Amino acid sequence: MTSVEVTINSLVKAYKLGRIEVQALRGLSLKVEAGRMVSIIGPSGSGKTTLLNILGGLDRATAGTVTVGDTTLTELAPSELVGYRRDVVGHIFQALNLIPTLTTEENVELPMMAAGVPRSSRLSRTKELLSIVGLSDRQDHKPDELSGGEQQRVAIAAALANDPPLLLADEPTGELDSVNARMVTDFLVKVNRGLGKTVIMVTHDQNVARVADNIMRIEDGTIKASLTPSQIAGPEVSTSYLDQLRKRVVELEAQMKQLDEDFKAGRINGDEYAEHRVRLKQIRAGIQDELQRQGVVG
Ligand SMILES: Nc1ncnc2c1ncn2[C@@H]1O[C@H](COP(=O)(O)OP(=O)(O)OP(=O)(O)O)[C@@H](O)[C@H]1O
Ligand SMILES: [Mg+2]
Repeated sequence: MTSVEVTINSLVKAYKLGRIEVQALRGLSLKVEAGRMVSIIGPSGSGKTTLLNILGGLDRATAGTVTVGDTTLTELAPSELVGYRRDVVGHIFQALNLIPTLTTEENVELPMMAAGVPRSSRLSRTKELLSIVGLSDRQDHKPDELSGGEQQRVAIAAALANDPPLLLADEPTGELDSVNARMVTDFLVKVNRGLGKTVIMVTHDQNVARVADNIMRIEDGTIKASLTPSQIAGPEVSTSYLDQLRKRVVELEAQMKQLDEDFKAGRINGDEYAEHRVRLKQIRAGIQDELQRQGVVG
């Protein structure tokens, strides 16, 4: 199975702590088409992990429905959830993804053992997965002998072991520096675009979020906005945007200089000159205002 569609309708999750009820999800609806990559962003406590844990079959919804492919997850019995977790979903958690006493190879093999895959197939699949995440030479390392980025890449390989059509990742780059975060993000994109899997990723990092097709902003347990990558502020976008603005100012100044020369040489008359010059100055002033709004002085 390559990918599946995920449909969430009016999802509610209430946690009861004594007499106090916390509504972590308050009627959240979301549709992720098969083969798409969606990022979920939002403040701490807004319900992101709760949503992923329900999608991953680890937690039960209080109300509402979740459909993953042909399966209505919210109707499954606990025993059926085991099979769902094994076959349909790969899950990368916010922390503690790997078993510390097992090697890289064994950590990746483990989900396949649970699925009853024969040893020879497990070993060849593990080899293939470790080469996808670029860790063939780390197969005998234990997690504490790996960098944080490498550990997360092992976690991606393990999550893909049983070839699930849906991959869930909760803050996969949360504890990584920007270089490792980029590398892990690139692998998730590869899993989505290259292997065609549906990917739902929670992140607080806007730069990481922007690699997805869509970015959903969750607040107080509901989706507050659906954004495209270009609507998310990030250094790359703002740099190129600012560069475009600066380039446009240089172009306009060159046009004004050319206009002056044309007028001096008698190629255009006074009226044409005045009209064009006013227009070019207006455009330049507009761009300079925008540059100032973007925090560029002068
Ligand atoms: N097992 C639980 N029992 C009671 N309340 C819980 C439980 N799990 C989560 N909550 C509450 O539900 C709300 C949503 O929590 P959740 O972990 O989904 O947030 P989050 O968006 O993932 O936050 P973060 O960005 O900090 O990881 C919070 O108010 C949290 O305190
Ligand atoms: Mg969380």
